[in-house]
Amino acid sequence: MINLLYKSSYVFVLFYYAIIPLGYLTKWWVAIEKMKGNSTILVTGGAGYVGSHTVVELLKNNYSVIAIDNLVNCYADGNDKPESLKRVEKITGETVIFYNVDTRDKEALDKIFKTHKIDSVIHFAALKAVGESVRIPLTYYQNNIGGSSALFEVMAKNGVKNIVFSSSATVYGDPQFLPITEQHPTGQGCSNPYGKTKYFVEEILKDVCASDPEWKVVLLRYFNPVGAHESGLIGEDPSGIPNNLMPYISQVAVGRREKLQVFGSDYPTIDGTGVRDYIHITDLAIGHLKALERMYSASFKSWKAYNLGTGRGYSVLEMVKAFSEASGKQIKYEIVDRREGDIAECYADATLARIELGWTAARDVHAMCRDTWNWQKKNPKGFQSS
Ligand SMILES: NC(=O)c1ccc[n+]([C@@H]2O[C@H](COP(=O)([O-])OP(=O)(O)OC[C@H]3O[C@@H](n4cnc5c(N)ncnc54)[C@H](O)[C@@H]3O)[C@@H](O)[C@H]2O)c1
Repeated sequence: MINLLYKSSYVFVLFYYAIIPLGYLTKWWVAIEKMKGNSTILVTGGAGYVGSHTVVELLKNNYSVIAIDNLVNCYADGNDKPESLKRVEKITGETVIFYNVDTRDKEALDKIFKTHKIDSVIHFAALKAVGESVRIPLTYYQNNIGGSSALFEVMAKNGVKNIVFSSSATVYGDPQFLPITEQHPTGQGCSNPYGKTKYFVEEILKDVCASDPEWKVVLLRYFNPVGAHESGLIGEDPSGIPNNLMPYISQVAVGRREKLQVFGSDYPTIDGTGVRDYIHITDLAIGHLKALERMYSASFKSWKAYNLGTGRGYSVLEMVKAFSEASGKQIKYEIVDRREGDIAECYADATLARIELGWTAARDVHAMCRDTWNWQKKNPKGFQSS
């Protein structure tokens, strides 16, 4: 009994004199990190797929985050804060400052810049459905280009001239060579209004840099983001019929859709189906932090574009197989005609990001499929199931 008392008093002493102070020290360290310059980031479209995963990584790395979103493509169910950001709070244990604001609303944006000392912006907010952009091009131009130029105006007015912009491999159009380097021509053969908005916004930012040397701009050209946070709390939650392969496959696996349609099996690829460069969403999110670090370095001037991809392409059927292996589910599929505007192969040369950002994709296709499945089976109806 006396022995036990001795032992528990040791535990008490250890807890009182070592663990509690360690907790305080950690909190101070976090606070000091947050006070460092260039650390408050305005994240537009922060409640979306890429935005929410990037907010997790920013918070984990002691950046302060102000997220804005107009909720056009995320689930909020009448709440003040979108479900994705509530889940981000669960993952990180941090509170996310959020404003329901549209990037086209200059007055509301200006208020945010006046309320918070913002150092940099990561600009995700955009409409992104290729097919829809063909049907309603003006809405896309208005939202993606109008919203971006309004944001840049308000940034300039408030002296905030650091921005990381979410661009896309679509700016390369139909590839003239593979793997695609950043030197590949852009804007030629962008076959849909969505892709054109990405190209135009890149051009606007280049002109802004040419007009004012204080601007620092990183253009991140994503290849095909897939997967979900390892917790399974956040992931891609498309409304309606998914446009992208992975959400479609996972909805078939979970029984929400009957079968996958594979568009074309006569492309000059390994098995006749289209080949894309898939990148895990967490790797992509980390790429944004690397871009910020690069932008803050003394040697960085004006603008620079980086490909974020793995540098390896996978065909549709290879992805179906990998997903079946990761999930243990058979994926029913049928081959149908090619889809207009689709290209045979597209994959990145990501050497520049490796050399200049110190970034490479660390997660393989198995991790992409495993994490997609983990998210899908925990949230069969996406964020709505909560
Ligand atoms: N996911 C991809 O496959 C992919 C590939 C390449 C590039 N991108 C780009 O990355 C960015 C993020 O994509 P995502 O997949 O996270 O899309 P997403 O739709 O999940 O996220 C975009 C968010 O922006 C919000 N939004 C849209 N217009 C807005 C506006 N005017 N004001 C405020 N908020 C607005 C939406 O509500 C949504 O929450 C987009 O710019 C997209 O074009 C995505």
